Amino acid sequence: MSTTTEADTFLGIETSCDETAAAVVRSGTTVLSSVVSSQIDLHARFGGVVPEVASRAHVELLTPVVAEALVEAGIDGPGVDAVAATVGPGLVGSLLVGVSAAKALALVWDVPFVGVNHLEAHVYAAFLEEPDLPVPLVVLLVSGGHTLLVEFSGHGRHRVLGGTVDDAAGEAFDKVARFLGLGYPGGPAIDREALHGDPEAIAFPRPMLDSGLDFSFSGLKTAVINHVRAHPDVGTSDVAASFQAAVVDVLVAKARRAAAEVGAAGLCLAGGVAANSLLRERWLDLCIQEDTRCFVPSRSMCTDNAAMVAAAGWWQLRSDGPTPLDVGADPNLTL
Ligand code: KG4
Ligand code: ZN
Repeated sequence: MSTTTEADTFLGIETSCDETAAAVVRSGTTVLSSVVSSQIDLHARFGGVVPEVASRAHVELLTPVVAEALVEAGIDGPGVDAVAATVGPGLVGSLLVGVSAAKALALVWDVPFVGVNHLEAHVYAAFLEEPDLPVPLVVLLVSGGHTLLVEFSGHGRHRVLGGTVDDAAGEAFDKVARFLGLGYPGGPAIDREALHGDPEAIAFPRPMLDSGLDFSFSGLKTAVINHVRAHPDVGTSDVAASFQAAVVDVLVAKARRAAAEVGAAGLCLAGGVAANSLLRERWLDLCIQEDTRCFVPSRSMCTDNAAMVAAAGWWQLRSDGPTPLDVGADPNLTL
């Protein structure tokens, strides 16, 4: 077995929700392959992820996805120095598929296993593409399950500055899209619909805009539903654009406040909602106004993928060593 500091070529595995993903990453920065098999078609007819359907699909998809990642990277098993997998948070049945496979491969290949926190992996998507980001870094991590403002001050050193008190930002996008009949997943659908709408058409509330670093999106979702019920003829694209503008206003205002409190040297976006066109545009404006380094990941690195898991695993192996094989999946893992 290679020592933890020599281990350089990582196989990453991600199965926390509805994406079955595997990637090979060298030195925490060089992506040799990144394969993502989305289960969107399987879950779309239910309007959201069905946990039992997701875990069964992971069982079917994981072996071919790992095989494809290895072939694309041009290596075989013995070329892998360590196997990293998401151990949480996420759907327990889905997590277990990836964790069990990763441990089995680590045992067979006699290499370290590294259990990665999915939220940390989203943050590492930034270092994967921009290894020399300055610290302290304020990261806005916005996904289907989380809305977090995080101060990152070095590898393995982070502090949660604020989070949502109810729905996550992505969850709000998904629920509003479902109500508007735009389908699943809702974020990209609202993003597309909003292109044709007027963001100032409806003055939706900006929840908790002027207080602290926590977020609340449940009231905004209710405001959208109430407005559409009271005005059945309202244009869907105007609703989508006005809702999106309200969410992004709050996210950007809180990030601005966090940056000032921390004295941030850089501002970084992470998570699925970071693929949102308006948020990406407004983030660049924010960084210019705050005169700070800006990082917006490529869209494919925002949504769930295994390259970010492999990158996080590379750093974690160096700082904490391998994860014992008796560590299980933890659906409620926090940052
Ligand atoms: O990070 P992610 O792929 O999975 C989780 O860890 O949750 O994030 C998925 C979330 C979903 O709620 C999806 O609707 C949202 O990210 N999302 C977007 C966009 N693309 C994905 N939200 C707004 N605009 C987008 N373009
Ligand atoms: Zn995620």
